[in-house]
Formats: sequence, C-alpha cells, structure tokens
Amino acid sequence: MIAQPTTEPSAAADAAASVPGRHRIFSGIQPSGIVHLGNDLGAIRNYVALQTEFEAIYCIVDYHALTSTHEADVLRQRTREMAAALLALGLDPERCTLFVQSHRPEHTELAWLFATVTPVSWVERTPTYKEKASQQPDDVNHALLTYPILQAADIAIYQADRVPVGKDQAAHLELSREIVRAFNRRYGQTFVEPQAVFTETPTVLGTDGVRKMSKSVGNTIDILGEPDLVRRQVMSMVTDTQRIKRTDPGRPEVCNVCQLQRFFGDDYEDLWDGERTARTGCVDMKRLLADRIVTRYAPARERYRELMADPAQVDGVLEAGADRLRPRAEATMAAVRERMGLR
Ligand code: TRP
Repeated sequence: MIAQPTTEPSAAADAAASVPGRHRIFSGIQPSGIVHLGNDLGAIRNYVALQTEFEAIYCIVDYHALTSTHEADVLRQRTREMAAALLALGLDPERCTLFVQSHRPEHTELAWLFATVTPVSWVERTPTYKEKASQQPDDVNHALLTYPILQAADIAIYQADRVPVGKDQAAHLELSREIVRAFNRRYGQTFVEPQAVFTETPTVLGTDGVRKMSKSVGNTIDILGEPDLVRRQVMSMVTDTQRIKRTDPGRPEVCNVCQLQRFFGDDYEDLWDGERTARTGCVDMKRLLADRIVTRYAPARERYRELMADPAQVDGVLEAGADRLRPRAEATMAAVRERMGLR
C-alpha cells in the first residue's frame, strides 16, 4: 500500500477535516536526512496508521532544523528526502496533510507572540536545550532556546488537540501545554491544550545495541537504501555480548537483533526459542532479519527512488498541503492579533 501523491488539493482530506468531533492531530518531524528503521518503527508507521482514524497534519520542521543545520543545500535536500520518504512509507496526501513548516509563515509569527507569555526560566530548564547545548558547544544559538516555543506554535496554530510523539518529546509537549495555558490565562480562552499520544514502540536501539538509533551516532539501518547496504548494516549489529561460542545459549531479551524480529513476523517467539537453545546462532538471526527488512521495505524503496527522481511531484504535494492549511492558520492569527491588541 504505497501512497500515490497527487498535486491536487484533496477533496477527501478537506471532507475528512470537517467531520465534527474528530480529533485533530499534529506532529512535526525534523528533516534529518535519510530515514532509518528507528524513524519508521518509532514514528512514521504510527503516522500512517493515524491518518485513517484522525484528521492528521504532518509537518517537516525545517525551521527547527535550522538550530543545527546551517548549509542551505543540505537543508533543502534533506527536506525533500524526508518528504519523499514519508510518502514512500505510506503517508497519503488524500488522507492527511503533509507540508513544510517554512511554507506557512504564521508559525514564526505565533512563536514570537507565544514568547511574550513564556518565562525565560521555562525554556532554560528544558532538558533538550541543555543536551543540545552540550552537543554543539560552539553553536548555542538563541533558536535552540526558543525551539519549544516554536513547537507550541506549530501545534496551536491549527488547534490540534492530539500530538503523536515519542517519549523523548514529553518535556516539549508539557511545555507546549503550559504556554497555551499561559496565553489563555492572559488573553482569554483561545487555544485548546494539546495532549501527547505516546507511541507504543520502545526506543529502537541502533546497530551498536546500546544507543538509540540515530543518524548522528552512525548506528542506523537505512531501510530505503540499497539492499546491500541494509544487509551490511544488519550483519554489523551487536548481539548478546555474553554469547561467545555458537553453542552458548542466547538471551533474546538483551539481544537487539532478536528484539527487532518482533516487528518482522509473528514467529519471533519461536525464533527466540531457537536462540535460547542454541539451535540457531547470531549470524543466522541477522541473515533472517536482513532478508525480512529488505523484503518488507522493497516497495517503499522503489517508490522512494521514483519520487526522488521526480521532485516536481513531491513539491506539488507539499505546496498543496501548505495551501490547504492557509485559511486555518490565517483565522487563528486574526483572532490572536485581535486579542493581543495588534489590530
Ligand atoms: N521537536 C520535535 C522533534 O525533534 C519536532 C517537532 C517540531 C514537533 N514541532 C513539533 C513534534 C510539533 C510534535 C509537534 O522530534
């Protein structure tokens, strides 16, 4: 089931948007480069599932990415790659709205206005700010501090009431809620308080078996890459470090390869049993996992290639998404300006 992007604004999505009582969800994803297994299992898969049930708005947050990426060509390329990957993995512009943050300038306007109701101490204590500051000590730019205020604006501008995110975003979401509350307190009830919908997937560890799968760590499985690359990455995975000899019993609970098998077949308990009794070895397990990953993602990989070869198609989807959101963003901003004394 691969999404067929169209460049036409979608009547179906507009109709879906107007179903009363339906939750409106919003989520943002950073254009961080090639999409890996952790992105799909941790977020994108969930986005795909939610688009059928809810009115869903998905945003590629290039403004947020500017807090760490300063090369124009790199950012542009990554934004397009992320869009193509999301479409290839199943986001359907007939069912959801996909757009790029900077295509709707109201986000930054609202972020400024939100900054005026946000105490400095709230942003300074954000754990991700401290983490980022230590990761890029020579580039502790002010936008790193403002980051969660912009995130609050992203969500609030569309009056989204549900936000699907990973657990690592809990602090940001809490801050978004506080900012919205602070605004409502000062200027009267204007925004709904967004609620986090945490994805159930436990954190996906990288090929090192220790750290979260992440491009910056270099421990990814690049699901949309060539099969050879995927195989090489899977074969390099760290398994149960206490299983030295092939005949040693394996411990699936601590083996990352075994853990990932859960997502690629109903037979994982069987496979685990084979590990425990040393019927199978780590190399067998890795080969099987690599095969399954390559097979599962073959259609998406093909679709991704097609989309990357046809940038106009991707750009058309993104443009239509931003256009569709325009009336809603403008309506919110009109109300906000009125309340704040700007008109
Ligand atoms: N901060 C999120 C991340 O790094 C991305 C993001 C930006 C976001 N704006 C958002 C997530 C709004 C949810 C809602 O993953």
